[in-house]
Amino acid sequence: MSGTAELTARIGRQAGPDDGTWSTDPYAHALRTGQGPLYLRRADGWLLLLEIERWCAAPDAADLEVLRRCEGPVLDVGCGPGRLVAALSRAPSRGAGNCATSHNGAADDRRHAVALGIDVSEAAITRTITRGGTALHRSVFEPLPAEGHWGTVLLIDGNIGIGGDPQALLDRIAQLLAPGGLLIAETVPDPDVDEQALVHVTDARGAAGHPFPWARLGTSALLRHANRWRAVDQWTAGGRCFVALRSRSSRSRKSTAEPPKSTAVTSSQRAAKRSADRPVADA
Ligand SMILES: C[S@@+](CC[C@H](N)C(=O)[O-])C[C@H]1O[C@@H](n2cnc3c(N)ncnc32)[C@H](O)[C@@H]1O
Repeated sequence: MSGTAELTARIGRQAGPDDGTWSTDPYAHALRTGQGPLYLRRADGWLLLLEIERWCAAPDAADLEVLRRCEGPVLDVGCGPGRLVAALSRAPSRGAGNCATSHNGAADDRRHAVALGIDVSEAAITRTITRGGTALHRSVFEPLPAEGHWGTVLLIDGNIGIGGDPQALLDRIAQLLAPGGLLIAETVPDPDVDEQALVHVTDARGAAGHPFPWARLGTSALLRHANRWRAVDQWTAGGRCFVALRSRSSRSRKSTAEPPKSTAVTSSQRAAKRSADRPVADA
C-alpha cells in the first residue's frame, strides 16, 4: 500500500479508545510517571516533543487565558491528564448551561462549571479523574454525551491534529457544539504549516507505540480548512497560538445528544470508575 493510501485507510479506521495508538505505552507510562521525554515521531525521523510535564502540571497563564474565554458546558477533546478539565471543575459556574456538580458527580452546594474531558488513553482519563476532573474514555469520533449542546469545545496542545484529517475533525466538532458554540483550537507558531502524516509515540529509549495519522496546523492553514467557520479571535500567550471559531452553518446531521445537565455528568460518573492519564506538545 502506498503511503497516502495507508494514511487514508488509517484515518478511515481511526476511532475507538482501544485502537492501539495513544492508548498504549510509552504514552501511558509517561502519563503515570508525569515525566518525559516523549515524542511524536514521523516516518522520516522528525521528532515533536510532547510536553508531558507541562500537561501534568497546573494550568499556566496561557491555559488560564483559554479557560477565561470558555462559554457554557465545556468539552475538552483529547484532554490528556486533564489540567483544563480539573481547573474548570473547580471554577464557579458562569453560563446558563452550567449546573451544579462535584468532580465525582455528587450534588454540591457550590455551582461548578460543567466540563467533560474525553480521551482514547485510559491513563489520561485516570489522571484527569484523580486530579478532580470528569472524563470519559472515548474517541471524539464515537457517540458522545450531549452532542449538539456543548457551549465550548477545546482542541488544545495540538489536538487539531487528532485523526490526521482537520476537515473531518472540524465537521465532527460542529456536530458536538450547540448552535453558535465556540471552538478554541491551539495552532503551531508557523501560520502556514499544514501537515498530515503518520506518526507514533516514542520515548528516549526508542520504545514505540503503533503508528497513527496526525496533523499539524498553523492558524492560516486552519482557517483555510475552516471555511464553514467564522474566526472570532486569534491570540498568542506564552509562545503558544490560539484561534476561536464559531460554526457558520446550523448542524447538518441530526444530533444524538442528550441534555448536558444530566447526561454528561452521568457518563462521567461511569467513566470515573475506570481511568488514568497523559499528552503531547510542540517542539
Ligand atoms: C497532544 S495530546 C494533548 C494533551 C492534552 N490536551 C493535555 O492537556 O494534556 C493529544 C491527546 O489526544 C488524545 N487523543 C488522540 N486521538 C483521540 C481521539 N480520536 N479522541 C479523543 N482523544 C484523542 C491522546 O490520547 C492524547 O491524550
